[in-house]
Amino acid sequence: MNTSESLLRIRDLVVEFVSDGRVSRAVDGVNLDIWPAETVGLVGETGCGKSVTALSVLGLIPSPPGKVSGGEIQFEGQDLLRLGPDQLRRLRGEGISMVFQEPMTSLDPSFTIGSQMTEVLAAHRSVRGSAAAAEARRMLELVRMPHAPRVMSQYSFELSGGMRQRVMIAMALLCQPRLLIADEPTTALDVTVQDQILALLDDLRRETGTAILLITHDLGIVAENCDRVYVMYAGRIAEAAGVDDLFDEQLHPYTRGLMGAIPDLTVKSARLVDIPGDVARADASLPGCRFAPRCPHAMAVCTGDPPAMRAFRGGREVACYLHT
Ligand SMILES: Nc1ncnc2c1ncn2[C@@H]1O[C@H](COP(=O)(O)OP(=O)(O)O)[C@@H](O)[C@H]1O
Ligand SMILES: [Mg+2]
Repeated sequence: MNTSESLLRIRDLVVEFVSDGRVSRAVDGVNLDIWPAETVGLVGETGCGKSVTALSVLGLIPSPPGKVSGGEIQFEGQDLLRLGPDQLRRLRGEGISMVFQEPMTSLDPSFTIGSQMTEVLAAHRSVRGSAAAAEARRMLELVRMPHAPRVMSQYSFELSGGMRQRVMIAMALLCQPRLLIADEPTTALDVTVQDQILALLDDLRRETGTAILLITHDLGIVAENCDRVYVMYAGRIAEAAGVDDLFDEQLHPYTRGLMGAIPDLTVKSARLVDIPGDVARADASLPGCRFAPRCPHAMAVCTGDPPAMRAFRGGREVACYLHT
């Protein structure tokens, strides 16, 4: 692969859901790039379309009621929206892995951790028997799992939340993915364990070169763990920037609103502030900028055409009529 090419390239992605005959655009024209071995944050309030964006990449949008109705997703130059079910399965095992918020639901309670891990190895890397067991143990050690050999013979319900998330990360890494999508990977964990898991992800990125898309509603997590960040609002990207630039200066009023949640950046578990107005729900029928109804700077132009994403100084981008 040409290293000057992005690993993941999303352009004009549109994802729609139909319910009661009404179409809503959960994702409406998203552009996003991930370069090899970087950690990219995708941040925004609950319901803004972060998970739907991630699920589209993996071909996992439930259909019906959902469908990817426009745009392009390229991974290592390959058009993911054109892959068939078998190719998608292979991609999920070998190119892109995903870790979810609640590891309990992703682990099978009726099989030991070891047998679930060796099954993944058999399916995707044709590694079996004692070689598979050794590789599974090595992965558990890589994610700093205490008592890795014992955990191999345990069941998910015998482990703590933090240990289960370590197992999920180990399983995600078994296939040596080039991209790991971590969707709120620590939201269900207490703060100390959160920090351990995030530090672990960062170590693994350094050791294995896996790029990470870190999805979170927690700007404190973005500040401490990401190289670049995309701020999402109601199905669209409001602003994209290097993390340091974004924390120095917010170009989009929505981002500024979010920053109000972090009076002191050293406070680890800062949550998004309640910005006045309705939450960031996508509504395809709303004209113009979706943030306009909540924006203190809204102008007449903001309710016309939606603002386009514009490149700004320092390689940052913003979609806002204050910056045209
Ligand atoms: N299975 C579904 N059926 C209908 N609508 C959905 C479904 N999944 C997501 N959506 C819609 O997409 C929007 C974005 O959801 P999601 O990506 O899960 O948000 P988040 O940013 O919290 O991850 C939601 O507000 C919801 O309206
Ligand atoms: Mg989500």
